[in-house]
Amino acid sequence: MFGKYPLSRLRRNRKNSWIRDIVAETNLSSGDLIYPIFIHGGTEEKIEISSMPGVFRFSIKAALEELKHVQSLGIRAINIFPVISQELKSNDCAEGVREGNLVYTAIATIKDKINDIGIITDLAFDPYTSHGHDGIMINGKIDNDETVKQLQKQALIFAKAGADMVAPSDMMDGRVKAIREILDANNYKDVGIISYSAKYASCFYGPFRDAVGSKTNIGNSDKSTYQMDFRNSNEAYREVSQDIEEGSDMIIVKPGLPYLDIVKGITTNFNIPTLVYQVSGEFSMIKAAAQRGWIQEDKAFYESVLACKRAGASAILTYYAKELAELLN
Ligand code: PBG
Repeated sequence: MFGKYPLSRLRRNRKNSWIRDIVAETNLSSGDLIYPIFIHGGTEEKIEISSMPGVFRFSIKAALEELKHVQSLGIRAINIFPVISQELKSNDCAEGVREGNLVYTAIATIKDKINDIGIITDLAFDPYTSHGHDGIMINGKIDNDETVKQLQKQALIFAKAGADMVAPSDMMDGRVKAIREILDANNYKDVGIISYSAKYASCFYGPFRDAVGSKTNIGNSDKSTYQMDFRNSNEAYREVSQDIEEGSDMIIVKPGLPYLDIVKGITTNFNIPTLVYQVSGEFSMIKAAAQRGWIQEDKAFYESVLACKRAGASAILTYYAKELAELLN
């Protein structure tokens, strides 16, 4: 029961900032943020991504400096994405499962040189395939079961390199169970799985595909035969319950802001830590509006990331992680 106006005046609890702090229902701290980092195999220290101003592709060496800085801001975990040169891309994802590949080397080097940093790696093949899709193409289709076999190999090499958690972002069926089994069979029982259970076929990934160089490979085709249809929510809950049964430790919803109903639905109905990925297109929209003076950048990224937490997210992957951590400090 709530009191009625004028006995109740809701503005009393908003009267000044200390009262607003006392009644605040959501708090954001730098420990809630995961920093996505793009790594390339070249020697150039850092190359800016044109559709993501202020976001760079780093050489492994330059990444170490960047990550020490990121850590000094209170950010505890990162997610690594590779930029693979065209000549290494193929249909069978061979480079993606090669021990000693770019991500493997990056994980091993970062683990060696930086203490106490959480390393998550995406499992997917779009940075490695000649067609830019997330798996092996057979007769024009992304073959589920052949791709899952490759994902197992990829999980294994990244675990071997020292990844703390692997995050399958491919949307193949049955991959979580297959990955759990191969990790367990090879004594990587403590390597966790964060499953992108609700990953939608979204236009908001555009700048990311620029960043990892898969945009021209994929051309005009889309990923709607494996990523989710954004008209659906029940399907997301089925994906989540399957992934929980198959052994996921956490769930990711992606993109973020347009999908907060899904985040709320998952966190209300399932007891599993749920992360939100504020994706590249969300970042670039704020950035572009800010550059034109149409929106105040720091307020916009703070409000949009906080909204993810309010919807129930345990943590947020965001390209604004550094700026946000600075703001929170
Ligand atoms: C690969 C992957 C994508 C993103 C993260 N992992 C792109 C895609 O599925 O096409 C997008 C992240 C972003 O836009 O920031 N499976």
